[in-house]
Amino acid sequence: MLGAGDLIMLAIGAVIGAGIFGAIGTAAAGQVDAAGHVIRQGAGPALVFSFLLLGAVCALAALCYAELAAMIPQAGSAYAYSYATLGEIVAWIIGWDLILEYAVGNVAVAISWGDYFAILLRGVGITLPPWLSTGYRTALLSSDPAVHGVLQSAPNVFGMPILVNVPAFGIVMLITWLLLRGARESSTANNIMVTIKLLVLSLFIFVGLRHINTANYHPFAPNGFTGIHQGAAIVFFAYIGFDAISTAAEETKDPQRNLPIGILGGLAICTVIYVVIGAVLTGMVPYKELAVADPLARALQLAGLQTAGWIVALGATVSMAAVLLVFQYGQPRIFFSMARDGLLPAWAAHVHPIHRTPYTTTLLTGIVVALASAIGDAAETYDLTNIGTLFAFTLVCTGVLVLRYTEPERPRPFRVPFVWPVCVLGAAACLFVMKGLPTQAWWRFGWWLVIGLVLYFSYGVRHSRLRQREDAQAR
Ligand code: ALA
Repeated sequence: MLGAGDLIMLAIGAVIGAGIFGAIGTAAAGQVDAAGHVIRQGAGPALVFSFLLLGAVCALAALCYAELAAMIPQAGSAYAYSYATLGEIVAWIIGWDLILEYAVGNVAVAISWGDYFAILLRGVGITLPPWLSTGYRTALLSSDPAVHGVLQSAPNVFGMPILVNVPAFGIVMLITWLLLRGARESSTANNIMVTIKLLVLSLFIFVGLRHINTANYHPFAPNGFTGIHQGAAIVFFAYIGFDAISTAAEETKDPQRNLPIGILGGLAICTVIYVVIGAVLTGMVPYKELAVADPLARALQLAGLQTAGWIVALGATVSMAAVLLVFQYGQPRIFFSMARDGLLPAWAAHVHPIHRTPYTTTLLTGIVVALASAIGDAAETYDLTNIGTLFAFTLVCTGVLVLRYTEPERPRPFRVPFVWPVCVLGAAACLFVMKGLPTQAWWRFGWWLVIGLVLYFSYGVRHSRLRQREDAQAR
């Protein structure tokens, strides 16, 4: 059985990854597209406030997750909780939405992994040609002439430039292969990963502190609250994953006490680490120079600390590989739950006879995520993941409140304290962070939901097990 300390380790293992190693740069510096249009304003050194804001928002959502998870301890995360309590269509929307959190999120992690891997290779004297380490979308959207220029220098076929991020593709296929063979993170492996993450981040803080130039803190909030808000909307990615540990509710001893301590404790530790990293990073280099894919390593290198930059890059690749493993493991299991309920075709619930893994969906998820990582752009992908995840959090916060009234008698091993303020504020805060995302992300999310609903009404409704049972009873 898991105690609060184990839950804290699990949370840190799932949470620290591409958000703090990659998205933090765009959050601080802001983003303009290749044509010079502002996509988002950067927070500048005030990024620390973005992290504090997000810590509070996620704490509210985390309490709600803890109540549902303890009440319905099942694999399948928010999809399973909502299926059991809020009805099929809400469950379908959440399940469909979780694809953005898990599979699409991993596209961003893989791209960031590739960026840090390139530093590792350069450190040992190997430089990949840019067209084999840059995704097509990244080159197309980048305002950096060196990156955008890869479109011209890349080989082309029938006038179409060929750009593939081979490292990002490769890591996803490697992780998929491990998962197909039945790998999963053990608590020992998780503890090792967490130790590595904490060590490299401590190294960054320790050496970075000695290279702070206080002039970089002026102006502190160059774009005012808009910058803090829009910065928070992208760096929210750094917090995703704590919800995954709510699935351990079933194996937690004394969940009333340990779940909130574990989830909130993990969140609090990550928030403190993020605030310190944000303060050191924006103190080391002018925030505008952080608009790069590998900001932590870049800051160290700009300070002349090549070796420290290389070590941080090594730690970053290990940390992000761990995040990839958690989410590539989780996604097929959500598909599995959905297929078992009849909302996806039965083949998605096939289990391998020897390895006992949901191999069809593991392979499918792996191939799709790998291909998208080969051509995708990280910032665009962070946005889509964030909007989907925040929406799922909003539904979870609302769902907890609704269930208090529709099913008051159901045993709740953990109850959200002050349920009204926590749920209402939690849902509103998630919507507020969503509002900081670019308009394009909203459109894409809208289309994603429309496609999901079309699939539900053309397939799910007719194959739903629940509906078939209800029809049989009615006859
Ligand atoms: N929070 C996870 C990361 O930053 C998804 O990589």
